Amino acid sequence: MNNILILFITLLFSSLGFSGFLEYDQDVLLSPDWTHAGRVDPSEQLELTFALKQQNIDLLEETLRRVSDPDSPQYGKHLNLQEVASLVRPSELTQKVVHGWLQAHGVSNCRTVSTQDFLQCTMTAEVAETLLPGSRFHRYVRDGQSIVRSSGPYSVHDEVHHHLDFVGGLHRVPPRQKHVSLNQPPSKAGVHLGVTPAILRARYNLTAADVGTSQNNSQAVAQFLEQYYHPADLAEFMAIFGRTFQHRSEVDRVVGTQGGGKAGLEASLDVEYIMSTGANISTWVFTNPGRHESQEPFLQWMVLLSNMSDLPWVHTISYGDDEDSLSTAYMMRINTEFMKAGVRGISLLFASGDSGAGCRHLGKDENTFRPSFPASSPYVTTVGGTTFKNPFKVTYEVTHYISGGGFSNVFKMPDYQASAVQGYLKSVKATLPPQSYFNTSGRAYPDIAALSDNYWVVSNRVPIPWVSGTSASTPVVGGMLALINGQRLSKGLPALGFLNPRLYKLKGPGLFDVTEGCHEGCLDEQVQGNGFCAAPSWDPVTGWGTPNYPALLSALLSD
Ligand SMILES: *[C@@H]1O[C@H](CO)[C@@H](O)[C@H](O)[C@H]1NC(C)=O
Ligand SMILES: *[C@@H]1O[C@H](CO)[C@@H](O)[C@H](O)[C@H]1NC(C)=O
Ligand SMILES: *[C@@H]1O[C@H](CO)[C@@H](O)[C@H](O)[C@H]1NC(C)=O
Ligand SMILES: *[C@@H]1O[C@H](CO)[C@@H](O)[C@H](O)[C@H]1NC(C)=O
Ligand SMILES: *[C@@H]1O[C@H](CO)[C@@H](O)[C@H](O)[C@H]1NC(C)=O
Repeated sequence: MNNILILFITLLFSSLGFSGFLEYDQDVLLSPDWTHAGRVDPSEQLELTFALKQQNIDLLEETLRRVSDPDSPQYGKHLNLQEVASLVRPSELTQKVVHGWLQAHGVSNCRTVSTQDFLQCTMTAEVAETLLPGSRFHRYVRDGQSIVRSSGPYSVHDEVHHHLDFVGGLHRVPPRQKHVSLNQPPSKAGVHLGVTPAILRARYNLTAADVGTSQNNSQAVAQFLEQYYHPADLAEFMAIFGRTFQHRSEVDRVVGTQGGGKAGLEASLDVEYIMSTGANISTWVFTNPGRHESQEPFLQWMVLLSNMSDLPWVHTISYGDDEDSLSTAYMMRINTEFMKAGVRGISLLFASGDSGAGCRHLGKDENTFRPSFPASSPYVTTVGGTTFKNPFKVTYEVTHYISGGGFSNVFKMPDYQASAVQGYLKSVKATLPPQSYFNTSGRAYPDIAALSDNYWVVSNRVPIPWVSGTSASTPVVGGMLALINGQRLSKGLPALGFLNPRLYKLKGPGLFDVTEGCHEGCLDEQVQGNGFCAAPSWDPVTGWGTPNYPALLSALLSD
């Protein structure tokens, strides 16, 4: 009786006041495709990531606005990593409290980053479970991949609650790869074109002279799934498809661990195409499948960016997850990490996703569109997808129905896009989906687009046709921005950095406006499978349109 009473009181106290959730809205249920493989032994080592509360986030946001707005006198005055660190570094008190809390639990094996706002610590499962009340670590497997996550929501003691944003390594799981797919060949007879570097370079008006010339310029792709590019695939791809332009056939630097085994279609695609538009530019590959079972691969990459002072200017990333599956605290903090990259002059390009507006079932006959993160972050440039009007010719482009796009439910609409989005909402008013499907106060995306259909990719030494997805359009745009950076750097101008404020001020020149076609949405009576439709000027399907390289270069080469 006494014991039960004590247990009851302990539970009561630990739930009322002594500890609280950092991520109260985090989805903790794993999708059923993960198979439970048992409780983790108390003595097993885990690695957790502690995101410490930063300082001066408002100032960081204001600085990003100033260095990215072409009309600001501060435009292009980017910060280096040390300057970012002096701005956002957690207060002495925060550092002292968090370190003291970890030490009191016997956690001493921690690594920090240059900005001191992340700590990565290893500890046993037993220690982790006392440190984070509510956590219970289990192992789960899917497709031969194994992860360790907590079955219950974690909390932290009140003393540290105000000093942390979130703890990584407990809940988020690698999303299923969904930004690339293999199409069925069209049934219509005829010689289908298929997208190759030569087709892209023709469509976007890249001449033989439009290749990288500056020594110091660089670009990167980042991979977070069980995805490896194979140097032999890249060499073969360039031997087959690279005959008409100067290019490199090797990656300069691989950051992270390249696994053995088979190459991934996604990884092959990213590297082969960023090096085709961003031809002859030094290219890096960040590869992080999550070396430890308790790591979150995307978070690992973010942590790494805060610990490297020399980084490529352009990064293209094909990772994305449903906004509604992630906690607000996590998304807000990752958004701050994007600001940290932006003030350094780094351009982050994310694929907009391959499910159009997406669809989330709320109840019987009740659906709403489903935005995806990081595509919905106001501080990245999000890339949608198009297809040729006539798949047998290099014609103008129309919407690719898969192209991700819509309105965030988490991030407010940033000022830089307000008038473009209002313009769209007004001009297509009569044909918009019902208001209950999307949130007009949110950040609208994508910002820009490129072809995303029927690519040729060499993977595991085999040329494969019909590869599709916004994973293809993202490195294609990234390579072109890297070329423009090269031209800017050789004129002594700063890199483009966070592009959106400048892109939305261009209002079109430099881009082929995409005005035809709708992307997919909910399959229900109200919207009948449609999401939004493209329209003149900006739209939430293809953004401002696709790059006309020479025109975009001249628009972005001043100042
Ligand atoms: C950050 O870099 C420093 C210096 O290279 C290293 O000692 C530290 O372990 C790194 N931090 C993390 C989290 O990897
Ligand atoms: C670029 O390509 C388009 C069509 O693909 C063409 O109409 C245009 O004249 C080309 N040149 C320039 C400099 O825009
Ligand atoms: C390719 O880039 C290198 C510098 O990295 C440069 O020396 C060379 O001239 C470039 N090639 C062409 C064709 O511009
Ligand atoms: C290239 O980078 C090196 C070292 O980072 C620097 O010393 C050199 O001046 C740079 N060159 C140009 C052309 O910017
Ligand atoms: C709509 O978006 C705003 C952010 O712009 C958010 O605060 C609000 O909760 C969202 N509404 C819904 C119903 O999700």
